[in-house]
Amino acid sequence: MMIKVEAIIRQERLDDVKVGLANEGFFGMTMYNVRGRGRQKGYVLDFRGRELRVDLLPKVKIELVIDDRDLDKVVNLISKNAYTGEIGDGKIFIYPVKEVIRIRTGEKGLQAI
Ligand SMILES: Nc1ncnc2c1ncn2[C@@H]1O[C@H](COP(=O)(O)OP(=O)(O)OP(=O)(O)O)[C@@H](O)[C@H]1O
Ligand SMILES: [Mg+2]
Repeated sequence: MMIKVEAIIRQERLDDVKVGLANEGFFGMTMYNVRGRGRQKGYVLDFRGRELRVDLLPKVKIELVIDDRDLDKVVNLISKNAYTGEIGDGKIFIYPVKEVIRIRTGEKGLQAI
């Protein structure tokens, strides 16, 4: 079974998350620059005495498709390296993946990730 792990994390935690994953053999990933908000609905800055609502904050999204037997390991590696303990540390979403095809060789499934 293959699983897609999507993690939305702080930009400044990306390098540690990448290194943590690579050190355990997880190389393949896709990264996006995104903007988002969680349950604080963004936050309010005091800009020269005026309130400035920043409702979509810049974050980084990474996506990895992995063997589902590695799921706990990958979730732990991402969580450990993305963690600061402050609000806005991010979130991890998990999805089933139906198929993966390596275009160059035609390999499929776990052989292709
Ligand atoms: N329910 C959601 N659906 C989609 N994306 C979300 C959701 N919640 C959070 N995100 C994304 O994750 C990013 C980080 O969210 P965040 O860590 O602030 O979540 P939170 O639920 O507010 O937790 P915390 O209280 O720790 O801040 C958001 O900027 C957004 O991109
Ligand atoms: Mg939040």
